[in-house]
Order: sequence, then C-alpha cells, then structure tokens
Amino acid sequence: MRRVLPAIHPAPLPRVPRSGLVRAINLPDGSLFPCLGLGTWRLGESAAQRAADIAAVRQALEIGYRLIDTAEMYGDGGAERVVGEALNQAFRAGPVRREDTVIVTKVLPTNASRKGVVAACERSLTRLGIDHIDVFLLHWRGRHPLAETVAGFEALRSRGLIRAWGVSNFDVDDIEELWSVADGDRCVVNQVYYSASKRGIEFDLLPAQRARRLATMAYCPIDQGALAEEAVFAQVGRRHGVSAAQAALAWVLRQPDVAAIPKASRESHLRDNFAAVHIALTPLDLAAIDERFRPPTRKQPLAMT
Ligand SMILES: NC(=O)c1ccc[n+]([C@@H]2O[C@H](COP(=O)([O-])OP(=O)(O)OC[C@H]3O[C@@H](n4cnc5c(N)ncnc54)[C@H](OP(=O)(O)O)[C@@H]3O)[C@@H](O)[C@H]2O)c1
Repeated sequence: MRRVLPAIHPAPLPRVPRSGLVRAINLPDGSLFPCLGLGTWRLGESAAQRAADIAAVRQALEIGYRLIDTAEMYGDGGAERVVGEALNQAFRAGPVRREDTVIVTKVLPTNASRKGVVAACERSLTRLGIDHIDVFLLHWRGRHPLAETVAGFEALRSRGLIRAWGVSNFDVDDIEELWSVADGDRCVVNQVYYSASKRGIEFDLLPAQRARRLATMAYCPIDQGALAEEAVFAQVGRRHGVSAAQAALAWVLRQPDVAAIPKASRESHLRDNFAAVHIALTPLDLAAIDERFRPPTRKQPLAMT
C-alpha cells in the first residue's frame, strides 16, 4: 500500500495551474511544480556576461518558465544573484508573480551541518532577494551525517524559510539511508543526471523513488547539448517537425513523475525547450531511441557531472 506522507508545513508549494503551458509534477503532499524548469549552471560567472545572463533568465520568465534551478555553488553565488535580479525585474514589470514561481537552490555538502544549512539558506535568500526558497536541495553527499542535514532542513521549514527540501546526486543506497533517519521521508525530490545517453537510473533508482513517491528532477537532460547533435533524435525530431534537442527533452519528459531543467541562454533554445513539453513520442520513436541507447539491464554507477 502506498504510504501517504505528512503534509508539508507550513505552506504547500505554489499550485502552478495546469494551464496547458507546462504539465505539473505532483508531490507527495498534493502540491505541484512544473515539469520543465530553467537550469542556471554557468550563469553569474563573469561580470562581463552579467547583463546577458540576467536577460536570459528574464526571457525565460517571459516565455513562461516558472521553475528555476540554481545553487550556491554556481558562479560562487553569482548565479543566485543573477536569478535574484531577473526575478526582481520580472516581479516589478509583471505579470510574473512570486507565488507562481518555484525557486530551487542547493546547499554545498561542506555547508550541510545542521547550523551550516541554515546559514547557507540565509545567504542564498539574500542573494536571491526572496523571503523563502521553494525547494532547497543538498547538492551531493558529503561528510555531514544526513540526520544533521535533515534536522537543518526541517528547522528551515518550520521557520518558513523553505517550503520543501530534497537531495541531489543520491543513489539507491543514499535514498535508503535517508529514509532511515528522522524526517528523512519528507524529502520531495532527487535531482540527478538523466538523459537518453545516461539512463542507468531506470534500472533501480527510478523504481526506488517511485515506491517512495519521490519525484525525479533530471539535470543535463540534453547531455549538455550533445544530444542536439544525435542522429536518432534528429530523425525522431523530423517526424514531429521539431529539433533533435527538443526530441531528446521530450524523451526525458515522457514520464509523468520526471521534471527536467535544461539550461539555455539563447532565446531560440529557451523557446524550443519550453515547447518540448507538448511533444508526445510514439512507440516507433521510443523503439528507435532504445535501439541507439539501450535501457539498462544491470546496476550502473550514478552518472554525475
Ligand atoms: N545537481 C547537480 O549536481 C547538477 C549538475 C549539473 C547540472 N545541474 C543543473 O541542471 C541544469 C542543466 O544541466 P546542464 O546545463 O549541465 O546541461 P543541459 O541542460 O543538458 O545542456 C545545456 C547546453 O545545451 C544547450 N542547449 C540548450 N537547449 C538547447 C537546444 N534546444 N538546442 C541545442 N542546444 C541547446 C545550451 O546552450 P545555450 O546555453 O547556448 O543556449 C547549453 O550549452 C544546470 O544548468 C543546472 O541548473 C545540476
């Protein structure tokens, strides 16, 4: 029988409307987040690029992106500052509203002690210029015991500084360990490397997450741009009148509990990726992709960047 997880306190994630623009992922507490978001790795790394980086995030918000993924690590806080400035401009200009946006950021493992998590969150909030983070992730496992990190996350949640928390780069054994610590089962998402060319999680991690009703957020869904050059996706894309990158993204998004956070700076990429949520791949497409990228038949090490 499926276990019903306790409701997220103090407030659920924004109920992003099923507007037909972007499908939503259901979280265990009944709240939703969009299945497509914007990645921001490599943004905020250089002063010379700052204005262009802010413009790219603003453009994404104008197109309709309402989920933004960032991290304290990216550009040493620079990506969070870029996101913060873009949000600030978008909220002032309208019609983008804070309550319709889902901001995901990550704490570095070195900061993941009980107190460190709280301090890192406060620094991220300052850089982002917002009063709460929607989903706060542990970027990857480090030396701090999971029980401490979870206690820090829960302290943040009860103060209303985060709405929900999750993890990243966790394999099955990490998830099992997480579920064994107090409140570990309040985790709402695991963000992992997942694309057609890196599909090892289908063997064990995805089923393990499904059994726990834990959502999956796919990073590098077009394999850092490589799948945009992949012949099988070009062929599938031609059948649908879309690009190879869009077909690769549609492949990740074919599963209702998997979200994807492609990073794009170019407007054409931002628009193409946003439109990819409407592409429905056929059994013929899926068979061709399976032929090129075989589904895993045994345990594979978790892919990481
Ligand atoms: N949790 C983790 O450990 C972790 C690790 C890595 C990444 N992430 C997150 O996941 C996000 C996505 O991963 P990623 O940035 O490494 O890789 P990605 O999203 O798979 O690929 C990004 C690259 O693909 C290009 N691209 C995007 N859309 C395209 C399109 N429609 N056609 C052709 N090329 C396209 C981009 O170019 P342009 O920029 O020129 O448009 C960029 O060079 C990151 O930004 C970050 O937020 C998390």
